[in-house]
Amino acid sequence: MTEKAPVIAVDGPSGSGKGVVATHLAEKYTFHLLDSGALYRLVGVAARQAGIDLDAESLDEGRLGDLAFRLDVAFEPTGDPEDPLILRLSGENVTDRVRSDAAGVDASRVAAIQRVRDSLFALQQSFRREPGLVADGRDMGTVVFPDADVKIYLTASAEARAERRYNQLKHKDIGVSLHDLFHSIQARDERDMSREASPLRPADDAYVIDSTDMTIEEVLDNVLALVTEKLF
Ligand code: DC
Repeated sequence: MTEKAPVIAVDGPSGSGKGVVATHLAEKYTFHLLDSGALYRLVGVAARQAGIDLDAESLDEGRLGDLAFRLDVAFEPTGDPEDPLILRLSGENVTDRVRSDAAGVDASRVAAIQRVRDSLFALQQSFRREPGLVADGRDMGTVVFPDADVKIYLTASAEARAERRYNQLKHKDIGVSLHDLFHSIQARDERDMSREASPLRPADDAYVIDSTDMTIEEVLDNVLALVTEKLF
């Protein structure tokens, strides 16, 4: 056991199943849960509320960095594995807005800004507390917790991920279509993987799981076997 609280890092692209895996692990081991994607999504929502146009060709990096630094957020666990957190921005419940596909696209834009990433760094590390943390994101194993005890990188084909996102969102995000989601996932992959600031990639010591042809139960069996071997 390390001196600091143990960390299980779960990274991967949108729709890879990492949210389900991270929630399951946090529940099983009663670890804290960091949904770092939600933080970037909240920066996007806060920016829109402040009247910042995130579709503009060039973004005001200083202003967005400051906004991320001053972000007043609260994560409230619900105990519901389907929707594990209520997300608050300055006290207001913005969970549905944060989970929309549009918020994912905005998040991917603000996440490419190094100053935004720097602003969220200490906040993310502050989630590391006993008895341990499951950290879900894109750069948990590479940048935020490079000394994580277990690093998992989950991936799947863009088609499979679009279909999963569609099934998650169709009841909540009116007007969402499979076709649009597929293109939005491809665009986000491209932006998240090719950006200079902490690009999405597996850590050298990550255990990579391609879940395209696996059920969520098979993925969980693999992950639990790995965590048990490394941590318990
Ligand atoms: O996991 P998600 O779909 O909620 O993430 C939304 C966006 O935030 C994603 O497109 C990239 C960005 N992100 C990031 O750059 N680094 C993280 N650790 C988590 C998310």
